Amino acid sequence: MTAKELRTKYLEFFQTKGHTVISSASLIPENDPTVLFTTAGMHPLVPYLLGESHPAGTRLVSVQKCIRTDDIDEVGDKTHHTFFEMMGNWSLGDYFKKESILYSWEFLTSPDYLGLAKECLAVSVFAGDSDAPFDQAADDIWAEIFRANNLPLTRIAKLPKKNNWWGPAGLTGPCGPDTEIFYWTDFQKAAPLSFNDDNESWVEIWNNVFMQYNKQADGSYQPLAQKNVDTGLGLERTLAVLNGLDDNYQTELFVPLISKIEELSNQTYLSQIEVTRAMRIIADHVKAATFISADDKNIKPANTDQGYVLRRLIRRALRYGRQLGIEKTNWLADIAQEVINLYSDFYSELERNQNFIINALNEEEKKFTRTLEKGMLEFEKLARGDISGRDAFNLYQSYGFPWEMTAELAKERGLSVDQAGFAAELKKHQDLSRTATAGKFKGGLADSSEKTTKLHTAAHLLLAALRQVLGEHVAQKGSNITAERLRFDFSHPEKMTVEQINAVEKIVNDVIAADLPVTCEELSLKEAKERKAMGVFESKYNERVKVYSVAPVVAGKPNLALAFSQEICGGPHVKHTGVLGTFKIKKESSSSAGVRRIKAILE
Ligand code: ALA
Repeated sequence: MTAKELRTKYLEFFQTKGHTVISSASLIPENDPTVLFTTAGMHPLVPYLLGESHPAGTRLVSVQKCIRTDDIDEVGDKTHHTFFEMMGNWSLGDYFKKESILYSWEFLTSPDYLGLAKECLAVSVFAGDSDAPFDQAADDIWAEIFRANNLPLTRIAKLPKKNNWWGPAGLTGPCGPDTEIFYWTDFQKAAPLSFNDDNESWVEIWNNVFMQYNKQADGSYQPLAQKNVDTGLGLERTLAVLNGLDDNYQTELFVPLISKIEELSNQTYLSQIEVTRAMRIIADHVKAATFISADDKNIKPANTDQGYVLRRLIRRALRYGRQLGIEKTNWLADIAQEVINLYSDFYSELERNQNFIINALNEEEKKFTRTLEKGMLEFEKLARGDISGRDAFNLYQSYGFPWEMTAELAKERGLSVDQAGFAAELKKHQDLSRTATAGKFKGGLADSSEKTTKLHTAAHLLLAALRQVLGEHVAQKGSNITAERLRFDFSHPEKMTVEQINAVEKIVNDVIAADLPVTCEELSLKEAKERKAMGVFESKYNERVKVYSVAPVVAGKPNLALAFSQEICGGPHVKHTGVLGTFKIKKESSSSAGVRRIKAILE
């Protein structure tokens, strides 16, 4: 099946169920300052999910182009993208769980539509917690379908909020429990009898969200008067499984891009894992950059907002292109042209803005290529040790290295970069052009330093809590912090149980609630070790190190002998844990053999 057939079938199916087709909205949200891009089909529908009446009625269907940068680090595997298309159907206070699930099942399995193998499907439903109850209705509906089709009920998993809850898209707004549908993609083996969230061969293809709450700024969930359904079926993933592929990049939505990259680099896609990964990143990022540039809002690479994301995608693609040995001038435009050819039928803005796209890419390529080589030389010089904020700023200012690129290159070499120092330098220089940037840095660098500082302190609390719950064998293996979330890798041989995750969350939140002071001392490395302070890259630290402690106050002073956490660390940190808000673990998964990965946020 082709992408075109898949889109058409989806829209047609839901039209037979009384839905009206609405067209894809712009990638740049109209009225929502809390996000930079449209991240899901529901995004343009928020006012209607909250009760306003939609001119097209109460049953809607669309194929929406989306940009998500939260998972940018995962791009390079078989299924993640920063640009993707989401097929979605909505009930605005019309049908609810039963019809929604029955429609999905029919569309996926009916020979008239996708005809996917029933034996390869599994689902999950919301297990319930203190905010909302177990989704008995969804569970019952699935059980009935599974029984009727002789499928094992063990393929209906009951999972917590971090798996089976969706939204809001921004900070506040409609959200609710969801049920997710997975397809078994290890085509050599029969699907196991039960669903396991940890097994990557189960690929999530569809998410049906039952939007019955409105999340408030204070974090509470207020029931919505209108019960809605919001679904998202990933086009690229579905197309892959329909064609018996376990790699989205081998579908027709990527093959012309990958072929072009092979031609430009004189390398073969599946020759080595690093080549495969680089080609996927280039294909994904250039596609995303092409679509962002194609938007009628004419976004150009810049240092703020959407333009910053665009710049970052382009420069990251250029860096991987260099890694593959691509030498041609204006090569990004060659790939962008393939994107335009591939998608123009469905997204006419690509042709309409063709010149704008090509010029913008060429200009940015020229700007960056000139300095990339010199910048890499400079980086290599700096990379003999951890990188200071001033050096990172110099790479940014003189060589156009986005902050994330420096951080990423440093991470590849096991080095750290002083992000707060970088942000401080940036601020100093921006005072010269205040008006252009004041208040415009959401998701950018200036205000993100406060958020990342909080997440940084949370990472210390998380490590200490993990050691309490799981044992002293737990050591930090890596950490990556963006303004949005904390990613934390640590040694532990097995998947954490739900109880363990809850216990860790609770300990961290208790320490936050206790509002303990965070203090800093300078000690010799030896003294720090004697104190049993934790340290990740100990051997790389200089003789004198900073030790940050979180300890209770006794007789007016932090009592370090009773410290909850002590870590060798460059900082910065918050002064008191009380400012952190609520700590939430969003995901626990495997990172590599013997290493687990947690993604967590502060709300
Ligand atoms: N809004 C839901 C999602 O993005 C359907 O997964």
